[in-house]
Amino acid sequence: MRVLESVELEQKFQDKIDKEIKIEPNDWMPDAYRKTLIRQMSQHAHSEVVGMLPEANWITRAPNLRRKAVLLAKVQDEAGHGLYLYSATETLGADREATIDDLHSGKAKYSSIFNYPAVSWADIGAIGWLVDGAAIMNQVALCRCSYGPYARAMVKICKEESFHQRQGYELLTTLANGSPEQKQLAQEALNRFWWPALMMFGPNDDESPNSAQSMKWKIKRLSNDELRQNFIDATVPQAELIGLKVPDPNLKWNEETGHYDFSPINWDEFWQVVGGNGPCNKQRVDARRKAKENGLWVREAAMAFAEKRASRKSA
Ligand code: 3HC
Repeated sequence: MRVLESVELEQKFQDKIDKEIKIEPNDWMPDAYRKTLIRQMSQHAHSEVVGMLPEANWITRAPNLRRKAVLLAKVQDEAGHGLYLYSATETLGADREATIDDLHSGKAKYSSIFNYPAVSWADIGAIGWLVDGAAIMNQVALCRCSYGPYARAMVKICKEESFHQRQGYELLTTLANGSPEQKQLAQEALNRFWWPALMMFGPNDDESPNSAQSMKWKIKRLSNDELRQNFIDATVPQAELIGLKVPDPNLKWNEETGHYDFSPINWDEFWQVVGGNGPCNKQRVDARRKAKENGLWVREAAMAFAEKRASRKSA
């Protein structure tokens, strides 16, 4: 393609973005736009699927039938979110098997938060309240993403995430209002998940190689630091309401800025976890690989059934 033609196409594309016209699968788009969406959306899908693992571990140990039913519903939702996002990624030409193989080979990223263990029942509450709470903060902004299928997928997913966040907060509220031992369980869960939840939003803006371009293309509507700050401002009062203390000695409301000041994040820990050296990275990828192996017979049976039915129809 002549250089002039490609410059004109890129300019027309950016004009559409600037005019808030959604980009659809069959529209022309720069390869780099397609590539960064496949990167982000596939990682998002992987996060949903790997995110089932810490919680699934507690389904058989839920304290009563109601909690078990709620947790089952949440984990099933996450599976659906993953499949939904893999389908949205396919609209950009990504191959689903290859995308999933990237997760199983350790090549693909997924959200760092899921490389931490859920060591007590209270962690299930902290995951719902903080992890899904952080995911909602990020995903509500993605409902306005310039890529149509991703933005529309977010609308459905956010509706379910809000149930996830509420059930987690309600679980921790119950514990915080329970015996001193139960309240301690809730506090310890907040202590374990607070900082990893802040890391979910990604590195500081000045350390984020993808943000500037993603903001220009309106994939990102708010920056990593803006979303993180909004999450902190919304979540600290929720912790205080149920008598829990956010584990940050420097957390303080700043009248001037209208936001909470907070301590610097341990980015060494973040990059260690992102780099594969978190508490559960190997366990999580192994579990996904095993799930694929164990499910092979189901996929083969479904394919055999479909082929038999197709051959009967054509006979
Ligand atoms: N975990 C793992 N990797 C992370 C990360 C995290 N928390 N935050 C950033 N990274 C990676 C990025 O992927 C990027 O690496 P790459 O270029 O190889 O992909 C690198 O660190 C630099 O980060 P950037 O800020 O430059 O990258 P992005 O512009 O992609 O921003 C993001 C990172 C904010 C996570 C963005 O990708 C995003 O909004 N993703 C969609 C939302 C998402 O994936 N959320 C994950 C949680 S989903 C969830 O929790 C499900 C719920 O149901 C429980």
